[in-house]
Amino acid sequence: MAQIQWSSEFETGIMSVDGQHQNLLGIVNKFAAAVEIGKGRRIMGDILRDLVGYTQEHFLYEESLMKEAEYSNLTLHVAQHHQLLEKVQRFQFDFNQGKRLTKDVHSFLQYWLLNHIQVDDIAFANWLAAGGVEDTTTVGS
Ligand SMILES: [Fe+2]
Repeated sequence: MAQIQWSSEFETGIMSVDGQHQNLLGIVNKFAAAVEIGKGRRIMGDILRDLVGYTQEHFLYEESLMKEAEYSNLTLHVAQHHQLLEKVQRFQFDFNQGKRLTKDVHSFLQYWLLNHIQVDDIAFANWLAAGGVEDTTTVGS
């Protein structure tokens, strides 16, 4: 599982959100590196705990921005967050059951970076930048 470099394609233009996305990417890359060099289960478990905790914290932060702005697509976005969070919690559960996770974490990362950030988070940022008037329900589809 390769490390993924942050790229301008992932930028929403909301500095706090971009910073948190970079931190999340950092945690996933740390996980990938730990898998690569065969770190023990205790360390991997710690990294997964960070991933779950930070994902939760970050989603709540994003949702608070969206609520404050009365984002028109809030309900859908929150539902997507729930799905992503469930996925990460599932990894943690599976890991605790002794399962190997490399591919699952990689597919989460790809979905999260390529789909959620580049489509849904950027849709919110564009909506916000446009003064909160644009209907973004069709963006990215
Ligand atoms: Fe989001």
